Amino acid sequence: MTDWTPAAAPQASRTTRDPGARAPKIEPPLIEVQGLRKTYRTARGELHLFADLHLSVHPGEMVAIVGQSGAGKSTLLHILGALDAPSAGTVYCASTNVAELSSRKAAEFRNREIGYVWQFHYLLPEFSAQENVALPLLARGVRKAEAMAMAANWLREVDLDDRRTHRPGELSGGEQQRVALARALVNQPRLLLADEPTGDLDEATAARVFDLVQRLHQDHRLTSVLVTHNLDLASRCTRVLRLEGGRLVTPPALSHPLPPPGN
Ligand SMILES: Nc1ncnc2c1ncn2[C@@H]1O[C@H](COP(=O)(O)OP(=O)(O)OP(=O)(O)O)[C@@H](O)[C@H]1O
Ligand SMILES: [Mg+2]
Repeated sequence: MTDWTPAAAPQASRTTRDPGARAPKIEPPLIEVQGLRKTYRTARGELHLFADLHLSVHPGEMVAIVGQSGAGKSTLLHILGALDAPSAGTVYCASTNVAELSSRKAAEFRNREIGYVWQFHYLLPEFSAQENVALPLLARGVRKAEAMAMAANWLREVDLDDRRTHRPGELSGGEQQRVALARALVNQPRLLLADEPTGDLDEATAARVFDLVQRLHQDHRLTSVLVTHNLDLASRCTRVLRLEGGRLVTPPALSHPLPPPGN
């Protein structure tokens, strides 16, 4: 089975009672990947990672990607987020052909459209939580006082109001990842890409951070793609795809739809 079939798409319903009513708008996919291939040239020859991989993700979906270590999950997220280039195929992300971006345009695209969260938080150790969250705003030219005020709001949003002045080394693992989430979303991107965001946390903390990801996804009407090894957490997403043999396939027992955002 492929990762996407028209029957599985979130179709808007049409009414036959009121032919004059305008048909509800069906939004196009926010991510559309066709025929993706990635080849790494290594000392031992070429490594072909994907086999004409296809993926469509519609606005509001929260898609989990699972698969064995080395399957290419991180590479796929890097390509979606314009951090790595495909070898072949088309990759449209937020109406942008990411393969055609120059490195400067790719950086602008990431700053504007993508919130990225990794397994390790990558917060800057010498800055406070609030300063770390403010950095993406400063990078796009927001004045410092305004950036710090917005960062404070985001720390409130992830329940860390009382940890603003703490440096990353003075925060717990779950708190560090909540700061990383605030930093990822402070520029109000449309897309959240998360690579094992709970992978470095104990089970209870992972569940709490995942609850937060789910709440932020819904409250901010995000479209999210999450890589995880945790099948319990994956099953709470709108769709689960397994990366296997270079393609994305749907494991039959793992799809438990979330309500659409706003409901
Ligand atoms: N820059 C690179 N050069 C050569 N090979 C690479 C490069 N980056 C990744 N690879 C290889 O591509 C394969 C996929 O790597 P990737 O990190 O995407 O896997 P993954 O599915 O995220 O694995 P994990 O679950 O362990 O994080 C691996 O075999 C890796 O060694
Ligand atoms: Mg990985």
